[in-house]
Amino acid sequence: MNMRHERISILGLGSMGRALAGALLDAGRDVTVWNRTPGKAGDLLARGAREAPSVAEAIEAGDLTVACLLDDASVREALAPAVPKLAGGTLVNLTSGSSRQARDLAGWLEEHDVRFLAGGIMAVPPTVGTDGAFILYSGARELFDRVAAVLGPIGRPHWAGEDPGAAALYDMAALSAMYGLSAGADHAVALVHADGGDVEKFKREVLRPWMEQTLPIMVAGADVRDSVPDEYNPAMQATGLETMLAFSAEAGVPDERAGHLRASLWAMRRAAAG
Ligand SMILES: NC(=O)c1ccc[n+]([C@@H]2O[C@H](COP(=O)([O-])OP(=O)(O)OC[C@H]3O[C@@H](n4cnc5c(N)ncnc54)[C@H](OP(=O)(O)O)[C@@H]3O)[C@@H](O)[C@H]2O)c1
Repeated sequence: MNMRHERISILGLGSMGRALAGALLDAGRDVTVWNRTPGKAGDLLARGAREAPSVAEAIEAGDLTVACLLDDASVREALAPAVPKLAGGTLVNLTSGSSRQARDLAGWLEEHDVRFLAGGIMAVPPTVGTDGAFILYSGARELFDRVAAVLGPIGRPHWAGEDPGAAALYDMAALSAMYGLSAGADHAVALVHADGGDVEKFKREVLRPWMEQTLPIMVAGADVRDSVPDEYNPAMQATGLETMLAFSAEAGVPDERAGHLRASLWAMRRAAAG
């Protein structure tokens, strides 16, 4: 069978599920969709998707079932009544969760004779199907090879390893880094705004080039030990962070926005203490 012609069923039509379905339809794939709350298929139906009235019927309509629901609990809830229909078939779970949840789900599905790949989507809905998008998968390599050929249009497939928890682990860790940067950028803008600065000018002329310059250094220097190379003098950085926290409080920026500075201060103090 030509893998590209496998029928794909997507469980979940939130903003990500809709983007996945849209990218697969654009690539000419055969797509059936299901959502807990009906009526969310919108223009996907006009673009060629079919809507299944239940999870069981969606599973029956596909050679490959893809789940993209809110969280692990919602995947369990949706699959529980229909899992016998998946026996002998394949489920790809692109719902975010922890590595432990992915391993537990893999064990449960194995008991039901379901082939399983866990995944993590390294994209946001508007970038699904674009060059930068990539999808982490973990599980059996030969299953990944088959699924990669079918789901390639949603984002570049990247195999994270045999351990079903690997994709979730890398996904959660990468999201942690992204949220840290996002919190930092929000705090930066809040400071500029609170002190009467021009936020747009700051973003354009300072924040973006500064983030671009420092991003590779941050990634290369990330370390489980609180080791800071000599040229980045941790005692000096701790002093700078204390000044920034004091300025942030004086400017009236809520303390909750400055949590990333406290995390860095903690690490710099430990590094300085040797
Ligand atoms: N959006 C992003 O930028 C992004 C990026 C990477 C990864 N992800 C991951 O992709 C997954 C989906 O995200 P999303 O943006 O599509 O979220 P969303 O827009 O909030 O949609 C959530 C989906 O989960 C369904 N759902 C929730 N609880 C359920 C339950 N108990 N049983 C069955 N279905 C249930 C919802 O159905 P109803 O319509 O019936 O409520 C809806 O289809 C999440 O795990 C998210 O972390 C999202």
